[in-house]
Amino acid sequence: MQKITIKKILQSKNKVPIACLTAYSKNTSKIVDKYSDIILVGDSLGMVLYGMKTTKDVKIETMILHAKAVKSVAKRSLVVVDMPYKTYANKFVAYKNAKKVMKLTNCDAVKLEGGEKITNIIKHLIKNKIPVMGHIGLLPQSTKRFKVKGRSLIEKKKILKDAIAISDSGVFAIVIECVLESLAKIITKNVPIPTIGIGASKFCDGQILVIDDMLGLGDSAPKFVKKYANLNKVMKVSVKNYVKDVKERRFPNLKNVYK
Ligand code: KIV
Repeated sequence: MQKITIKKILQSKNKVPIACLTAYSKNTSKIVDKYSDIILVGDSLGMVLYGMKTTKDVKIETMILHAKAVKSVAKRSLVVVDMPYKTYANKFVAYKNAKKVMKLTNCDAVKLEGGEKITNIIKHLIKNKIPVMGHIGLLPQSTKRFKVKGRSLIEKKKILKDAIAISDSGVFAIVIECVLESLAKIITKNVPIPTIGIGASKFCDGQILVIDDMLGLGDSAPKFVKKYANLNKVMKVSVKNYVKDVKERRFPNLKNVYK
């Protein structure tokens, strides 16, 4: 079993598609680690696990707890942790917080949302030996409207400029979230590092999905999600059967008791 390194991710550009998934817990991480190149401990956990309306309320301590659990069993995948909202407001705050995340979780890199505006922060982290993954397009930490980005020429140009700016600043890969297919294609051609799409088309160098979405755990998921299972249904049936067994005194049975 060979550990996936940032070098390997960089070398995958134009060669092999990069597969990435989120994980927030030990059990999920164990499974994802077997197959996925990158595990992202995404701040989407605020909405997925904690029922928050946005990712803005996620605290750094929460990210550290989940990242620790994920990393404790991830032996192969590259593990990246999201820096939550306001934890990288300037380069000094960013370094203090990112250093804490890296030290306490032993993860491989952090991810920051933003383009041109945060290049000084990205450069400062990288100069201080903290690898950074970028995130452009739809930015859940700052967007007001969850809709596809890049429809207007102005927006298209801005997102492309953002991609080039953060690539030049040294990020090793860029998540492109929810943009027009044509824009993702242009970005991918114009940066020398891998692009990882989520709702951004097959033209990206890799793909990422939120694991609960692709497993069909939630009640709904965006159009860009392909569902590989319907765990919602599996859980409903299992819970229903368990409750029925308890009510009808079929559980516990002989196999479940100590003699
Ligand atoms: O927080 C997250 O899970 C993410 C992915 C959607 C890329 O940033």
